[in-house]
Amino acid sequence: MVGRKIRIGLLGLGTVGTGVATLLADQPAFALRRIVVRDRNKPREIDLSSYELTEDPMTIAVDPEIDVIVEVAGGIDPVYEVVKTAVQRGKHIVTANKELIARHGSELFALAQANNVAIFFEAAVGGGIPLISTLQRGLQANRIERVAGILNGTTNYILTKMEIEGLSFDAALKEAQDAGYAEADPSDDIEGRDVVYKIAILSSLAFQAPVNVEAIYRQGIGGVTDLDIRLAADFGYRIKMIGLAERRADGAIDVRVHPMLVPEHHPLAGVEGVNNAIFISGSAVGEVMLSGPGAGRLPTASAIVGDLINLASALQLPDFAAYFHPPIRSEVVPVSPIDDTISSYYIRLETLDTPGVIGNLGHAFGAHGVSLHSVTQKGVRADGAATIVLLTHRVRERNLQSALADIIAQPATLQIGLVLRSLE
Ligand SMILES: NC(=O)c1ccc[n+]([C@@H]2O[C@H](COP(=O)([O-])OP(=O)(O)OC[C@H]3O[C@@H](n4cnc5c(N)ncnc54)[C@H](OP(=O)(O)O)[C@@H]3O)[C@@H](O)[C@H]2O)c1
Repeated sequence: MVGRKIRIGLLGLGTVGTGVATLLADQPAFALRRIVVRDRNKPREIDLSSYELTEDPMTIAVDPEIDVIVEVAGGIDPVYEVVKTAVQRGKHIVTANKELIARHGSELFALAQANNVAIFFEAAVGGGIPLISTLQRGLQANRIERVAGILNGTTNYILTKMEIEGLSFDAALKEAQDAGYAEADPSDDIEGRDVVYKIAILSSLAFQAPVNVEAIYRQGIGGVTDLDIRLAADFGYRIKMIGLAERRADGAIDVRVHPMLVPEHHPLAGVEGVNNAIFISGSAVGEVMLSGPGAGRLPTASAIVGDLINLASALQLPDFAAYFHPPIRSEVVPVSPIDDTISSYYIRLETLDTPGVIGNLGHAFGAHGVSLHSVTQKGVRADGAATIVLLTHRVRERNLQSALADIIAQPATLQIGLVLRSLE
């Protein structure tokens, strides 16, 4: 490949693919040889007259005149088979596909190593933020203890709108959709699946071992109300959707995705709107935060074309693929069950306003070793219901859940409105 253009097969010409094609027009070292789409008759935003367009993804995997596949179609089927075939035929891969890397990364990296090719995936987490290369290379001298991040712009936009403008969840979601930040079906974002894939990838890089994505605990933001955001603020916290991966003393990894109370002085608390931010704790560097646009056409294309340029320079080196092979073992590392994790908690309860309610709550928490930091009653409604907000000290989730099971059985309890863990 030395001395000639690197020939690219582009799988996908949607939001990101269009950005990649646009940026590649200014990169003389690359030639975009073939583009694969689902529907070649769809109107496109760029002039395609000089490109070959096809609807069969496998053609780029087997084309001997393609050196690199840029995969920006998304999903597993047919992408997984296309990527595998391309790797077996000696092609390099640059992908933005978090699900592919989270589910099949370690297998694909091993296949790539066996075929002396490299797989790059900077765009799969944090969009335009150079995060993967920072973890893979810049922080190599560290033992990473923890990665915690705001990894989904849609949920951060919704929570920010709720906080700053006092909107309800539904109104904030509608604004996100109108602004083009949320899909018509926003469930992957709202329910946290998108962040599960991203934190699985970050965890595998930080701790050099893959995790099973199905083992990652997940709670969406659908239950968070504007009242919770106001109450949390009264206690000095902001509510943020966080992906967390932390090394535990027993060798397991604590990986989870849920809305968290973030102390207002924590750097992640100030990250607003569609931005993403990742807070990394390393043994030598201390604490580092990277933030910026976590999605979008050109930011994501910036990460992809950056990968391509890295690849082009690496190809000049002997044995370059080994250098880019992520140091991830093949055995899956166990994820701590949520019951074993330790946090302090925010609990919003709806109860009847009857004498002795607070005492009964205190008794139930005490019986399970849950120590309370504060208990606040927030007024009584016309129907006689009261909102009670409790903050606990750090306690094991199993104990907290046992206490809540007792509380839900108490006659005065109407419902447990929301339970949030805090980031410490
Ligand atoms: N959007 C972002 O800001 C962003 C940020 C970071 C990462 N990513 C990741 O980047 C990838 C692409 O996202 P996107 O937002 O650009 O998606 P998108 O706008 O929906 O585009 C997907 C493209 O792939 C093509 N495609 C899908 N399935 C295909 C198939 N079976 N055969 C041939 N072509 C197929 C589609 O063809 P048609 O055009 O004909 O429908 C379309 O051009 C995803 O993995 C996503 O998670 C996106």
